[in-house]
Amino acid sequence: MPSNNASLGVFVLFCILFVYIFSRNSFDDQDQYEKVYIQLPFPEASTLSTKRPTTSKSAVITTQERDSTETVPNALSPSKEEVQDTAEDEVVNGEPALAYFRKLSGSVNGFSSAGGLKFQIMAAYSYKDHFSATISVPKQIGSVAYCRYIGVDGKEVAEPVESRVYPFFVVYCSRRSNATMLGITNSKNEPISTENSAKLIHRKFKEYQHNVSFCLAPIYGKEPKWLHFAELVEHYKLQGVNKFFIYIREIGEYDMKLVKSYVASGEVEIIEVPATNSDVIAQQMMAVADCLLRSRTYSKWSIYADIDERLIMTDDRMTINGFLRNVTDESIGSIAFPQRWIMKREQIPPKFTSDAQIIEKMPTRAWHETTSAAMKGHPVCKDQVSCWAKDIVHNEKAIRMLVHEVVKFYPGYREWFLDSSIGYIRHYRDVDMQSWEKNNIANLMKFGPFSNTSYPNSLGAKLLKNVLSRLHWVYN
Ligand SMILES: *[C@@H]1O[C@H](CO)[C@@H](O)[C@H](O)[C@H]1NC(C)=O
Ligand SMILES: *[C@@H]1O[C@H](CO)[C@@H](O)[C@H](O)[C@H]1NC(C)=O
Ligand SMILES: *[C@@H]1O[C@H](CO)[C@@H](O)[C@H](O)[C@H]1NC(C)=O
Ligand SMILES: *[C@@H]1O[C@H](CO)[C@@H](O)[C@H](O)[C@H]1NC(C)=O
Repeated sequence: MPSNNASLGVFVLFCILFVYIFSRNSFDDQDQYEKVYIQLPFPEASTLSTKRPTTSKSAVITTQERDSTETVPNALSPSKEEVQDTAEDEVVNGEPALAYFRKLSGSVNGFSSAGGLKFQIMAAYSYKDHFSATISVPKQIGSVAYCRYIGVDGKEVAEPVESRVYPFFVVYCSRRSNATMLGITNSKNEPISTENSAKLIHRKFKEYQHNVSFCLAPIYGKEPKWLHFAELVEHYKLQGVNKFFIYIREIGEYDMKLVKSYVASGEVEIIEVPATNSDVIAQQMMAVADCLLRSRTYSKWSIYADIDERLIMTDDRMTINGFLRNVTDESIGSIAFPQRWIMKREQIPPKFTSDAQIIEKMPTRAWHETTSAAMKGHPVCKDQVSCWAKDIVHNEKAIRMLVHEVVKFYPGYREWFLDSSIGYIRHYRDVDMQSWEKNNIANLMKFGPFSNTSYPNSLGAKLLKNVLSRLHWVYN
């Protein structure tokens, strides 16, 4: 194992390399990336920590471990039966997927990653017709990557296959029989290690295990999370969402206690976000890339959003699940919900003290000053394609996602940008974090007048009751 000094050196090297890569003009995603980077509701980058999350190993339940013990809250649990592997590789647009993705990656001429940043793997997935890995290092799109196929005895069971990094943080691999682990390396014969290989998680369910689940952007930063987190889970449960993939970069013990209670009830799976990316946007893009792969065939739709965002149907008699069940146009690959920011003027209190505290401080009850909806195409968001929307994505129709939108679908699919009269995001945005209000108020007002709005009463009473009962159960 490397010494602390060596790890620090490697980390600094990552930082430098990252800045270098992300400042190069030849970088395939440069434009998109910068648009995300200079976004208006910029996240709390200043609080970035390089600490590992304080999750203990035992709190981290891999999908494979979960699958055997999971209790799906629905009365009728879907069958875990798997589809047969296909003999052939996946075909996209009439060509083998590996070639299709290589073309998309627009591999840079003369670019060689030999001797470059070593691959580290976050997770690997086995589908009926291909494998994919999420990598946890910021390799340039188009970087050469070798897929390595490892059997139960730890030996390679097939020749390495050359692939490319595409999209960000993903390496696509052909499927090989008898592989139980996937390795990703810079060269054909680089040794396989625990860093660059991972056990293949099966994702070839005959039936969706969930119709809609949730992918939470990495949790980090100093503000307490418990109340936001309880509200998030209970809000979405009222919307028919019963499964949450929670990406954690860092979290306090007090908050973790609540998260673990949802792990125990089978509703939450934790995915630790390693410290390999120094940039919070890169971390979020890695989580988004991983959750798309993780959710494929497991959940039909996934909501990709932050801890302070509450997607909601404007007619509150309709739930998100009900709404999605009504989406019959098969060409729809993602549904973008426009933002309405709500000024949150205080931090979450450090600890749960009483019912009265929750009645007063729970974000959906405490805050009302609301912007007009940020609709796609508005002049204020000319640099931000989606105008900071968040998406509900059909996981098998999307190839490449950024934080706010799908930027590449499988052929034939498209985005539906919702009008705010159908659905929108109640985004309880902290106004002080990075002087957000001060820096952005002028632009926010260009979307239209502010108004005082409330989380719908019809849901609010149930939400309060469910949040309180969870908090009492966990903290009393
Ligand atoms: C996979 O393993 C089985 C059983 O050991 C063997 O019969 C088969 O030939 C292997 N398949 C490949 C493609 O190596
Ligand atoms: C998903 O929705 C369909 C109806 O649209 C239903 O038959 C099925 O049971 C649902 N699956 C799950 C896992 O809830
Ligand atoms: C689904 O669509 C039908 C027909 O447009 C409508 O009557 C119904 O209310 C919708 N249900 C939900 C849950 O959206
Ligand atoms: C919202 O309510 C607050 C407090 O009652 C008030 O001061 C403010 O003017 C209201 N804002 C709008 C846009 O109505």
